Amino acid sequence: MSNLVEKLLCDNVRSLKPYESARRLFAAGSGEVQQTWLNANESPFANNYDVDSERFNRYPDCQPTSVINSYAAYSKVAAENTLVSRGADEGIELLIRAFCTPAKDAILICPPTYGMYAISAETFNVGVHKAPLNDDFSLDVESICAHKDKVKLVFICSPNNPTGTSVDSAQLQQVVEHFADSALVVVDEAYIEFDWHSTWANKLATYPNLVILRTLSKAFALAGIRCGFTLAAPAVIQALLKVIAPYPIPEPVAQIAKQALQTLGIDRMKLQVSELNAQRALLKERLMSIPSVELVGDDKANFILFRCEQKQELMQYLVDNHTLIRDQSKQINLQNCLRITVGTAEQNQQLMDLIFSFFKKQESAQ
Ligand SMILES: Cc1ncc(COP(=O)(O)O)c(C=O)c1O
Repeated sequence: MSNLVEKLLCDNVRSLKPYESARRLFAAGSGEVQQTWLNANESPFANNYDVDSERFNRYPDCQPTSVINSYAAYSKVAAENTLVSRGADEGIELLIRAFCTPAKDAILICPPTYGMYAISAETFNVGVHKAPLNDDFSLDVESICAHKDKVKLVFICSPNNPTGTSVDSAQLQQVVEHFADSALVVVDEAYIEFDWHSTWANKLATYPNLVILRTLSKAFALAGIRCGFTLAAPAVIQALLKVIAPYPIPEPVAQIAKQALQTLGIDRMKLQVSELNAQRALLKERLMSIPSVELVGDDKANFILFRCEQKQELMQYLVDNHTLIRDQSKQINLQNCLRITVGTAEQNQQLMDLIFSFFKKQESAQ
């Protein structure tokens, strides 16, 4: 880093490491060898959309009405409860920027969980308190509640990445009620389409301190367009609109999102979710047949977490064979854990063939 940059850099940014996104860890490469990406919880399905360039000379609306109305209808909430942003990741950032004063306030996270809550907070010099999940990945409600008046935002991911577990409704109710007058409880429902009945979107009217994060990146198979939603009380949405960029949603993104949220798009998403759920069950069955593999957590999303002693060697073997899954072993309570994103039948078959051949080689080496 140049001396000038080093001198000018904010103190809290100097020590930061960028989020190791799946794509940063394994860049797409020159394209000579086809990689199988099962490492970022993306959908394996690429769907077609029409894009009309007629308005590309104009700045887009900050909150395109057609997108807001379509997502509000899909989620059975009002438009005034809905904000669209550049992915759920921007929703996380807006919440931190709107509600946490740098060098003073803090958020609470429940690891093992999605990494961006902590990274976003650290980027803005906001503290990160932790209430780790219990051994069975349920919330440690007592530990969470002990942070009352110490944090402004409580992030709870359900279904949780990377454990695949959904939060128990009674536990969540306890937490939301406990923080009623002191913090917003942010329930990240990025994977909710894989466990639809457990959504908390229908509780927004009951709890003014409840915030829900959603995305088109997972079940809707649109990670590439960067489109996410925050559902909350109108006062929270208005606060976020104070800090959002003037034109966060590019016109092509708005057009594609609107199409994805029409009946045809939603029906297609549901079919693809059913297909992925069936594929996930098959993958689980095959993984369970391997004595050295232990499934970890639950299966409420489009991925599977498992533990095996030889995780380092297995990861390397898969990388050598152009197949990428995600190492989660640095997270609290996830020693030796790897996460597989469910792909197409063909990709899953290819992955399992490699995993079986890895363990066969290990056996014959003994
Ligand atoms: C739990 C969770 N929340 C949010 C996101 C980010 O979603 P988006 O692509 O909409 O920024 C992810 C992406 O992996 C995630 O796993």
